Amino acid sequence: VKQGNGVKGLVDSGLEVVPKQYIQPVEARFDASKVVPEESIPIIDFTNWDDPDVAESITNAASKWGFFQIVNHGVPLKVIEDMKAVVHSFFELPVEEKRKYLKENSPSETVVRLATSFSSEAEAILEWKDFVTLRYASEDEANTFWPPIIKNQAVEYMKKSEVVIKKLLGVLLKKLNVKEINKKLEYPLMGSMRLNLNYYPRCPNPEVAAGVGRHSDVSTITVLLQDEIGGLYVRGIENDTWVHVPPIDGALVINIGDVLEIISNGRYKSIEHQVVANRNKSRISIPIFVNPASDAVIGPLPQVLENGEEAKYKQVVYSDYFEYFFSKAHDGKKTIDYAM
Ligand code: SIN
Ligand code: FE2
Repeated sequence: VKQGNGVKGLVDSGLEVVPKQYIQPVEARFDASKVVPEESIPIIDFTNWDDPDVAESITNAASKWGFFQIVNHGVPLKVIEDMKAVVHSFFELPVEEKRKYLKENSPSETVVRLATSFSSEAEAILEWKDFVTLRYASEDEANTFWPPIIKNQAVEYMKKSEVVIKKLLGVLLKKLNVKEINKKLEYPLMGSMRLNLNYYPRCPNPEVAAGVGRHSDVSTITVLLQDEIGGLYVRGIENDTWVHVPPIDGALVINIGDVLEIISNGRYKSIEHQVVANRNKSRISIPIFVNPASDAVIGPLPQVLENGEEAKYKQVVYSDYFEYFFSKAHDGKKTIDYAM
């Protein structure tokens, strides 16, 4: 099967069954019988984010669920709608236009890269997803390298989201006895950021394929914008259950990544999640990965070990951790073993 044009290329060519290289082994498939429809992750009104009660609901959600949604976060609805619209426009570009951003053609593969699946060279079975990954180091760099069709809207989205990210990290770290996030702490918490544009084409056999396989994020936190299709499931609180993350217009889904679990010595949880493709409709999602700088050293903060508690994780250089994640297929929560 020809793959140069991604999963979207396959579907657009009229394919009506999932090719063999996308068929997951039974144990990796999504088991709909494990979904608990009555459960849901917290939805938090972010208007008074600094209020002690709101801060408490955020830190509780981060400890208990590792996932929550925020509304009234300050990213204008127009900015969100424009962002989603240009992601659709990008993926609908003619293939010749999009191919300019493949690894071998990109003007800078670290700044902009179009790819398929997750880490396709390391995977035996591929995921049902195409994506663009964009480094957000400065507005200048973004303006120079990001695809023209998304650049203005995406830079605007990043600028507005950055405000929310700083507030969230402030609240989460305050509870860990960190008074303020100064420049020195910004480096290991949010020293590098990535914006991904995910496209999950409609899938003829979603029950045997994976949109995204089970994994936890290797970020500090992830801020996800999803469209109205749905399909993101997170591990529930009860053993061996899954909970759907319902699309809410204008909301942002926040999740704790492995880095914040490590830094907090396990007080905050980086929870496994997966995406099931949709049989009839394509879905987009837009995560911002708030990551440490690549040479930052990550480990439990002195402030959380002050009480004499034993460190559950060892120190790791972030780039090593990140590379380990991409050196294998998605495998649940196993990446964090690298720091144990
Ligand atoms: C991911 O966790 O990799 C993607 C989440 C989503 O598309 O909803
Ligand atoms: Fe994820």
